[in-house]
This record gives sequence, C-alpha cells and structure tokens, in this order.
Amino acid sequence: MTPIVLALPGNEVLAASLVSRPGAESGLIELRRFPDGETYVRLETPVRDREVILACTLERPDDKLIRLLFLAAAARDLGAARIGLVAPYLAYMRQDRRFREGEGVTSSYFARIVSANIDWLVTVDPHLHRRSSLAEIYSIGTDVVHAAPRVAEWIKANVEQPLLVGPDAESAQWVQDVAALADAPSVVLQKTRHGDREVAVSIPDVDRWRDHTPVLVDDIISTARTMIETVGHLRRSGLRPATCIGVHAVFADDAYRQLQAAGPAQIVTCNTIPHPSNAIDLHDILAERVSNLMSPHATRSESPGRD
Ligand code: R5P
Repeated sequence: MTPIVLALPGNEVLAASLVSRPGAESGLIELRRFPDGETYVRLETPVRDREVILACTLERPDDKLIRLLFLAAAARDLGAARIGLVAPYLAYMRQDRRFREGEGVTSSYFARIVSANIDWLVTVDPHLHRRSSLAEIYSIGTDVVHAAPRVAEWIKANVEQPLLVGPDAESAQWVQDVAALADAPSVVLQKTRHGDREVAVSIPDVDRWRDHTPVLVDDIISTARTMIETVGHLRRSGLRPATCIGVHAVFADDAYRQLQAAGPAQIVTCNTIPHPSNAIDLHDILAERVSNLMSPHATRSESPGRD
C-alpha cells in the first residue's frame, strides 16, 4: 500500500519533497497542546497496514521527541506496517563518551529510545567522531546521506580559488573529502576548546594561501565559536574574508548574528535544518533514499532494518 508521509511542525517543505517521489502520499495529523502543557496527537489519515514516514529534523530535540514518540506510538497502535523517520539532523550525537565522571552518554540513550520506537532512520552526516557508524548505537536500519558532493558542487560554482579549511582535527576527513571533490587544496587547523563557548585555532604556513579564498567547512555550526574564531584568525593572518559552510545550521541563541558580525564573505548551510542560510539542497537526495527504502530491492549504506 502507498506509504504515508507525516510532517511534524516545521518539516512541511521536507515532507513535500518526500511525497514528490512517486509512490508516497502526504497524511494529516492534528498535534496540539492541552492547556496543562501535555501533548494531543491524532492521525487524521488512516495508516492501517501502511508504511508511515515521519519527517522531523531533530535540532533542539527535547521538545520534539515526545511528539515524535507519541505519533509513532499512535501510528503503531492504529495498525501501521512500519514506521520510518527522516531526520536530516540527528540530535545528541556529540555526547558520545563520558567526558567527566558521572556524565550520561546521551548519544547512546537517545539512540536506544529512537530504536525502540521507530523501524528505520534516514539522516544526513550524523556527527560520528569517536564512533565509526550509527550501527554502533542504533539497532534499527539506518541510511546516511553525505553532503560532501553537494557542498563541493556549491564551492566549485560559487568560490574562486578556494582553500578548504577544517577548523579542527575532527573535521579533517570531511574537509579532505570535500576538497578532493572540489579539486581544491585544504588545510586543517589546530583547535583548542576551553569551554562550551571558548575555542582557539591556528593555521600553519599562512603565506602560501594569500591568493586563495578560505572556505571553512564544518558539519555542525552550534554556538558558532569554532567558525567565529577561525574567521577572525584567518582575517588577522591577512587572508581574504572566509566563506563559512556548515552542513547543519543549529545556530544556538544568537550565534548566527554573532557569526555574521565576525565578517565572513558569506555563510552557507545545507537544508537539513530550515534556516535563512540554507543554500545547498539535500531534500531530493533524502527523497531518493526513502524511495529506495520503500522498494522491495532496497539497498542500504548502513545496517539492515527490522522487517
Ligand atoms: C565538533 O566536533 C564539530 O564538528 C563542530 O566543530 C562543532 O560542533 C562546532 O560547534 P560550535 O559551533 O559550538 O563551535
């Protein structure tokens, strides 16, 4: 039977892309808060024996999670055959170990909660630093879209003489991938984080790059301190104003305004989280992956799902 796409609030554009592929249709939900702050959910479209696809990117996840879980539970209760989640930004990937005695490893706990309630997951470049794949913590089928080819295409089309800059060692592999696809050189800076909002970076061999346009590439821009420090450091080193590219435009509090004030040439992100800086479209790739998952001969880039 035709799969049904249900958009959680704020995910309507993503959901429209998912149904634009042949073989899915959009469903209606009613979602609101009772006066006491509790959540009301109702599936207006019948889901019995149908595959349900929930469209919900997961930045600022704490408020979203309960609605997502209730919708998944209601869909299952109402006879849905399987429940998938398209979450272009996957939350809670950064607390991937116990940094201090007594801390919770929330990436594992979050993965456990999602895996217990959802049958498959499609996302974009999850922050895998100390883990090599989602399968280490997610027990459901997962498929990961990589933004690097689209980011490289954007750089090739929009930046003259780019120098790809990774702000820290964690970004090295990702930046080198994009650089190779964009036929551009790359450097990786050394970053020292002194706190949630305090970081310091340094660039080696700066004179070599004076004719280039620095392009900072990172997976997540959250407080933007990493980008702000890097933009400032490159400017003070005499390089051209940098272009900042982030896959996921998390932008905590007024981080976007602060990054703008740091004086980059431009700030560009992928549309994994709706934001004014979105300039690189990944929705069509997500739609294609979902459509593959729906096909009887689906192949997945990560672990196989529960059937
Ligand atoms: C770190 O491991 C990530 O790749 C990003 O560099 C980091 O999340 C950026 O955070 P912020 O914008 O808060 O500096």
